Amino acid sequence: MIDKNKILEAFNYRHACKIFDVEKLISDNDITFIIETARLSPSSFGFEPWHFVVVKNKELRAKLKDNAWGATAKLDTASHFVLGLTMRSALMKFDSPYIKEFMENVQQLPENVVKNKGEMFEVFQKSDFDLTDDRKLFDWASKQSYLPLANMMTSAAMIGIDSCPIEGFKQKETEKILKDDLGIDTDKFGLSYMVAFGYRVNEPRAKTRRPLNEIVSYK
Ligand SMILES: Cc1cc2nc3c(=O)[nH]c(=O)nc-3n(C[C@H](O)[C@H](O)[C@H](O)COP(=O)(O)O)c2cc1C
Repeated sequence: MIDKNKILEAFNYRHACKIFDVEKLISDNDITFIIETARLSPSSFGFEPWHFVVVKNKELRAKLKDNAWGATAKLDTASHFVLGLTMRSALMKFDSPYIKEFMENVQQLPENVVKNKGEMFEVFQKSDFDLTDDRKLFDWASKQSYLPLANMMTSAAMIGIDSCPIEGFKQKETEKILKDDLGIDTDKFGLSYMVAFGYRVNEPRAKTRRPLNEIVSYK
């Protein structure tokens, strides 16, 4: 087990890093470790509705800046810049081939469980959570995608790597770039967030958070 103070140290170390040291690159081993913590993240029904694109190419990064006001300095300086993609209804709808194949091949469920789980997932989408249009379904799937985002940022902080989560971009315009320039099938995937990784240049200002008693109640 890891000492609690060490874990809190990492949570305090993590901050939304605005500008990274261009001279310091994250090793392949470290970035693989960070992405592994994304891979191990939980998701509703376990369907892993995510994909991560690491944008190395400088021209592509420059192109992304056009519509990403919250990412400009990060696109210029981050060692690794990741696009957090989320599956759309083409893959996530209860009756999509992806869902059936996923239960069979990834989750390795027996035939009767595939059938039962599939039926439960249908009810979940149609009534429990009312995921009855494409936007609702994408937003629901995006909620799952933010779990690996958090895990990646925390695991990075635990090994002394800085990060910044980014929603400061025009979603439609950026997705067009993903389609035209990165060859991403945007009928299947949408862009939920971006996240930059690297090493800080400046020390952050002290963290501000509401006190614990304001954010939790025990009944
Ligand atoms: C989903 C999400 C989107 C964010 N988008 C941006 C962004 O576009 N640009 C940016 O500089 N910071 C962005 N942030 C960082 C937040 O402003 C920051 O996490 C918050 O102010 C708390 O500060 P801290 O992370 O340094 O503790 C984002 C954070 C989250 C969680």
